Amino acid sequence: MKLESISLKYEDSKLQLIDQTLLPFDETWLEVNTPDEMFQIIKTLKVRGAPLIGVAAALSLAIYAKTEKSAELFKSKAMYLGESRPTAVNLMVAIDRLIAVADKNYSFETIESEAIKIFTEDVELCESISSHGAALIKDGETILTHCNTGGLATAGMGTALGVINKAHTQKKNIHVYVDETRPLLQGGRLTTWELDKLGVPYNLICDNMAGFVMKTKKIDKVIVGADRIALNGDFANKIGTYSLAVLCKHHGVDFYVAAPYTTIDFKCPTGEQIPIEQRHAVELKGVKGHYGLVQWAKKEGVSVCNPAFDVTPAELVTGWILDNGVYNQETIKNIKDMQC
Ligand code: MRU
Repeated sequence: MKLESISLKYEDSKLQLIDQTLLPFDETWLEVNTPDEMFQIIKTLKVRGAPLIGVAAALSLAIYAKTEKSAELFKSKAMYLGESRPTAVNLMVAIDRLIAVADKNYSFETIESEAIKIFTEDVELCESISSHGAALIKDGETILTHCNTGGLATAGMGTALGVINKAHTQKKNIHVYVDETRPLLQGGRLTTWELDKLGVPYNLICDNMAGFVMKTKKIDKVIVGADRIALNGDFANKIGTYSLAVLCKHHGVDFYVAAPYTTIDFKCPTGEQIPIEQRHAVELKGVKGHYGLVQWAKKEGVSVCNPAFDVTPAELVTGWILDNGVYNQETIKNIKDMQC
């Protein structure tokens, strides 16, 4: 079976991923042969976005199952890969699914078939989220978004960016403000790349412009993705999301989060329990990309705090756009019922 998206290609046990650290200027595809290579690719954000890392990890484990005959060794490699990024729960959800298959009937065929299912299911989940979300968007609206939540972050059309894409294809005349998303610039580098391809009109802004833009322009909605949603509706997403939610409250702007059920952590009661990934200090002392390394803080003697995600409390959320509909402050109490 052949799988293909804007960020991933898989056929005959050959997995290729677009190197997201080189975008938007350089479209280089990486071949991934082992889960150890996949671990590094995920850790260095060459592949990123909660749903996509789950899908990519699963397919790299399918390749591994071709040569690894021991279910026990397969499971320990899968657990190891699950440690590559701690906040996005989709990674462990995908790995748990493969481990359950390995426990029942371990073979290359059963593992590959489950990994393919994880890919195709994500495509469908994105489609459903996008349709539910697009129904909320009126012609002529302006939407602000953060980080990258499109085809570079999922196997399909995306979550928050999928909603924007769907509204655009429905011929709604929408405009987008794209947060640059410091420190690793997923908005500035990746969301602009996707919006250019989709033909959606946008303005790129620095994260610290969002408040002024809300005050001086007509922002109708903020829509973001999620890396983990707790059972009370609190959710973790790219650092800067919480600040946007607070700004929305002050300015009376609707604040939505869009995600598939695979982003819900059914074992996590509140946002307090969500593990937050702390990343390397070097990411705040400069930037590195196709342009090389630009550094503005000294290598030594500069103390850094670099949480990659923050947690937005449920009380700041207008609506949760999930694959089975849009939840509000009342109905979000029922998300535990989405567990399969
Ligand atoms: O560190 P990243 O780039 O993997 O963070 C990505 C995000 O925070 C996204 O908003 C989230 O994963 C949802 S993607 C559909």
